[in-house]
Amino acid sequence: MCGIIGYVGPRPQRDVLLGGLKRLEYRGYDSAGLAVQSGERLRIVKAAGKIRELEARSADLDLSGTVGIGHTRWATHGVPNDINAHPHTGRVGRIALVHNGIIENYQTLRTLLEKRGNVFRTETDTEVLAHLVEEYLENGHDHPLEEAVRLALLEVEGAYGIAVIDSHSPGRLVAARRGSPLVLGIGEGEFFVGSDASAFAEYTREIIYLNDDEMAILGPDGYLVKNLENVELSPEVQRLEWELDRIEKGGFEHFMLKEIHEQPETLVDAMRGRVNPETGEVKLGGLQDVQGLLARCDRVIISACGTSWHAALIGERLIEEFARIPVEVEYASEFRYADPVFTPGTVVFVISQSGETADTLAALRLAREQEVPVLGIVNVVGSTIARETLAGVYIHAGPEIGVASTKAFTSQVTVLSQIAVLMGRLRGTLDTTRAREVLSEIVHLPAKVRQILEQADGMRDFATEFSGVGNALYLGRGYNFPVALEGALKLKEISYIHAEGYPAAEMKHGPIALIDQDMPVVVLAPGDSVYDKVVSNIEEIRARRGRVYAVATEDDDRIAALADRVVYIPRTLDCFYPLLAVVPLQLLAYHMAVQRGCDVDQPRNLAKSVTVE
Ligand code: F6R
Repeated sequence: MCGIIGYVGPRPQRDVLLGGLKRLEYRGYDSAGLAVQSGERLRIVKAAGKIRELEARSADLDLSGTVGIGHTRWATHGVPNDINAHPHTGRVGRIALVHNGIIENYQTLRTLLEKRGNVFRTETDTEVLAHLVEEYLENGHDHPLEEAVRLALLEVEGAYGIAVIDSHSPGRLVAARRGSPLVLGIGEGEFFVGSDASAFAEYTREIIYLNDDEMAILGPDGYLVKNLENVELSPEVQRLEWELDRIEKGGFEHFMLKEIHEQPETLVDAMRGRVNPETGEVKLGGLQDVQGLLARCDRVIISACGTSWHAALIGERLIEEFARIPVEVEYASEFRYADPVFTPGTVVFVISQSGETADTLAALRLAREQEVPVLGIVNVVGSTIARETLAGVYIHAGPEIGVASTKAFTSQVTVLSQIAVLMGRLRGTLDTTRAREVLSEIVHLPAKVRQILEQADGMRDFATEFSGVGNALYLGRGYNFPVALEGALKLKEISYIHAEGYPAAEMKHGPIALIDQDMPVVVLAPGDSVYDKVVSNIEEIRARRGRVYAVATEDDDRIAALADRVVYIPRTLDCFYPLLAVVPLQLLAYHMAVQRGCDVDQPRNLAKSVTVE
């Protein structure tokens, strides 16, 4: 979703701003723009389409100056074009403002502002904020920029992360947030603001996370953070943990492919120092203080969106198997409006890679308002969800840049397995022998994923055979049903082929009508407890001349005889097959997208961090 970069300092503005915007491309966008303040004037350049358009359009302009802002827009109000691209200005063009989020009362404000003589040039909700700020600077008010921004923000409802510069305030940038993330970068004699730290990570590792209803004033004389009630704050300066190579492609053609190949390491990172196969114990530092709660609770709700929701479905099975507690999985977008019933022993988990997903955050807040303990499973350190949960576990997958989630999913499932074992041990439902068996296997999974990745090139041929299809069905049972959902989602989002995931036996209750020689069916058929049932489902597809592409356990000749094509994965415990079986499906979607010429890392209409509901 939209991205913001802002810079105060001596480096060439255009380089820092365009560089930052390129780092933010992964978030998803459809137009971009930048503004630089130099002397008493603002230079604004905007372009629909990719950042290279903006780069070309700004190449010959004098963009020297000591403060600038840049933006990638993901359209919500108004089509993606040059005019609607940010930055926006007010009536006299004195300020430039970029905004992530949605101003919910923009229609009312727009009517008021128009009555006061402001003329609107765009279809965006953001423009009202630009006019409001300018009114507080002009029209005899003459407030300093930060006060004008603060007063304007008191009038808006909705979510925002903003950065504003003013032609009359040399070298000064004001940023503020409510519901849309903003991070400050503190360098030597220079400051940055970004919707995430990757926008400026090459320049500084010292960062401050802004909280909701806080604003930052950056200028030649330093930085100041205060809240919207004008009270000065002393935020903690933190250090960025990950290295820069995590946000570079490292020789891979796409971030998604790099991230798929990173999984052997990210799985290790998700369990490092946490599991002990000898004792059968799991130690999760982030849950240390809530172990009593995990031992006593009698119901678990897991809420998430998209791929994280698929991980939650696997978590449901894991926790039910090992800890014997009923688990419900809820789409965060539904849960937040469902008036859910919370019983006294309920614990809620929220899962989010970005830690900023608006619906997941709303689900978290809803549960908290009702005094239900909410625990997080999050990737981005310091993100809003990580900060607002009572306690939680980081998955430590490192920055995930490809819009289609891959390594975060497998790390989420790895962490969920550990939580399930921990809860089982705390509650006495998982004995030491079984816990040792599970943990002895979990530590072998990175090597097994590596083994699958060694045949990664074979998935290209698999994809070639598959190409040309307009639809696909993905089937799985038990632990692998969520993998069918995830495989179908991966295919849809990056190759734009319609795909459905189904529990294999549900097929005969409807989707079987779709099966003929043109319908490819991807079947997850590892050697688990429902293997024979899945084989019967494959027979049903064959009987209707469907094309079967199977994921099976190595040396499985029975599946080889039935399927049109098989990809093999190593043997593991039932509960861990999702972590292996998903990898060929990620590769299949990837190669399909490449062969169809799709933009793998930034699929159309999608955003990496969905900060609007
Ligand atoms: C799919 C994908 C999305 C996200 C969803 C939740 O590949 O990436 O479905 O999983 O938007 O995002 P997070 O996990 O950041 O809350």
